[in-house]
Order: sequence, then C-alpha cells, then structure tokens
Amino acid sequence: METPGPVNPDLVYSLRRVTERAACAAFNWIGRGEADDGGRAALDAMRSALTEIDLDARVVIGEATAGEAPQPQRGEHLGQPGASFKADIAVDPVEGTSYLVRGLTNALAVLAVAPRGAMMNPGPAFYMEKFVASSLARGKIDPTWPTAKKLEELAKVLNKDVYDLTVFVLEKPRHRDLVNEILAAGARVAMYPAGDVAGALMAAVPGSGIDALMGTGGTPEGVMSACAIRAIGGEFLARLDPQLQTETKAVKDAGIDTTRWFERDELITSDHVFFCATGITTGLMLEGVERTRAHYKVQTMMITGATGERQILTSFVPTERLASVAARDVA
Ligand code: FBP
Repeated sequence: METPGPVNPDLVYSLRRVTERAACAAFNWIGRGEADDGGRAALDAMRSALTEIDLDARVVIGEATAGEAPQPQRGEHLGQPGASFKADIAVDPVEGTSYLVRGLTNALAVLAVAPRGAMMNPGPAFYMEKFVASSLARGKIDPTWPTAKKLEELAKVLNKDVYDLTVFVLEKPRHRDLVNEILAAGARVAMYPAGDVAGALMAAVPGSGIDALMGTGGTPEGVMSACAIRAIGGEFLARLDPQLQTETKAVKDAGIDTTRWFERDELITSDHVFFCATGITTGLMLEGVERTRAHYKVQTMMITGATGERQILTSFVPTERLASVAARDVA
C-alpha cells in the first residue's frame, strides 16, 4: 500500500456529491425500462463530479470483471491526476439496476475509496461468497462451518435465540440449499432479488432488523461493503466464488484459490476509507430522490474510516446546478 499522507476525514462531504449526482442522473430513468441508459447517465455524472474533487483515484474493480451494468474500466483514473490523495476507488453508479428499471425500491448509487493499494483486487472474479454480521461476531464464526453451526454461534454472541435471527440472502437459484439450511436451523430469511450492499450494511449495524448476510453476490459490491464495514466495525468474510463459465475459467487460469476465505482487513488494508451511498429509489436504508422545479432532494449515508462516523445527510441540490443531468423537465 502507498503511504496515503494526511487524509482529510472531511473529504467524505465532497465525495457525497459524487453519489448524489449519480442518483439525480439516474432519477430520470426510474421505471423506464432502460438499464443501460440509467447506468450510463449515473456513471457519467459520477465521473464528472469526481473531477471536482482533490482525489487521484484508480479504479480497482471495473468493466473487466463486471456483467452488463455500465462501469468504469479497471485501471481507469478518476478525479484529478496529481492530487495529493492517491486512492483506489470502486463505484457502482446504480446498485440494483433491476430495481431502477422496474421503478422499485432499494436502488442506490455507491462509491468506496481507500488509499492506493489498500483495496483488494479480485482479478477476474466477479462473484464472491460473503458472511457479514455485527462487530460482536468478529473472529467468532468460522465461515467453513455448516450453516446451522454458524447461526448457533451467531445467536450466542448476539445473545439471541436462533429462532430470532434474520439472515439477508439474495433470492437466487444458487441459494436454494442455503435458504433451506437457514430455515431448518430455525432462523428467518429476508430474501431480496438484488442489492447486497444494503444487506451487508444492515447486517453489520446492530438493531437494523438483519442479523447476518449469507450467500454469493458481486465482488465489487463485496469490496465496497467491506470498506464501509471496516469503517463502522463489523464482521465481513469473503471467498471468491465464480458463477459464470468464462469467469470460472479465468479464475482457474489465474491460479486463484477459491477455497480461501479472506478476512475483512485483508480485503481492505487501511482504516482511511470512505464510503458514500445515495438513495435513488427509497429503500431499506435511505430515502430516494425527490425532484421539484427548484431542487433535487437526496439522502446520503456517509461513512468515514478515520473517525468511524456514519452520518445520513439530506441535501437539497438546486436543479439549475444539475441542468446537465436533467433529461426532462418536470411537468
Ligand atoms: P447491479 O449493480 O448490477 O444492479 O447489482 C445488483 C446485485 O444484486 C448486487 O447487489 C449483487 O451483489 C449482485 O447484483 C448479484 O449478482 P447477480 O444478480 O448476477 O446474482
């Protein structure tokens, strides 16, 4: 990892504008059935907002690994070349593209930043198995245990019955056995078709109603969540778990050990991280974008590693400032 030099914790207030702009740009595409256009508008807005920030960021996870959603290229530089803070960045301009396209709740714009070299580069792996829980579970759960044993131990450290645990799982055919194991152990599932960044954050935050996240989701989403969870405290364990044929071959060719579980602090090796998520549509954590003639109202979760602070900020952004992202006038 390169020495970051002094990192200003208040940088998070500038970074939040990046996800705010992305969310405002995506707003025009809510419920319009156009995945690519919404994602591209949000990505363009992110790129442009980053040029205004004193940050020289290198994309660690990007198009080389991702599926269809518009993403920056891995290795692409965003922000200001030559800025003093040399960083790694991972962005998801629209986390929950299917929600955006269908006009459903829970779409977010997300970014995570860490000092250069501090963010794990997953190579060609696009999918990762994750286990997430609150800080009470740190170091207490072996991810290779059977599901029932993990839940039993988790219940113990949370001082609950297994019966009272709720586990966030992406609703995917690959999770059929996992869901059956959770149910057989006596816990509840909260099954969402998409959006495991929100699921991971909820699992890490005590009292959120979600006690753990289990199962396989995107690697970019995993690395971004690990950044947030390193900052706020919480357990995050992950194993690369390729699902696509080409991905499986690429991971094998790269000699990656898919049985190795990574600890949170191996995924993100610095405390000087930043995470921002802005609601596009209202969801589990944040309100979605509202637009009037005068302004966009946006809500953003900002997390700062240096201070461990998690803040939620509601901003009113004058529409005239965002003329370039407004594809349509309000009737
Ligand atoms: P998008 O950013 O592509 O919309 O990702 C949504 C998401 O559900 C993530 O939250 C999750 O990690 C990943 O997709 C799971 O991928 P898949 O839907 O291919 O199983």
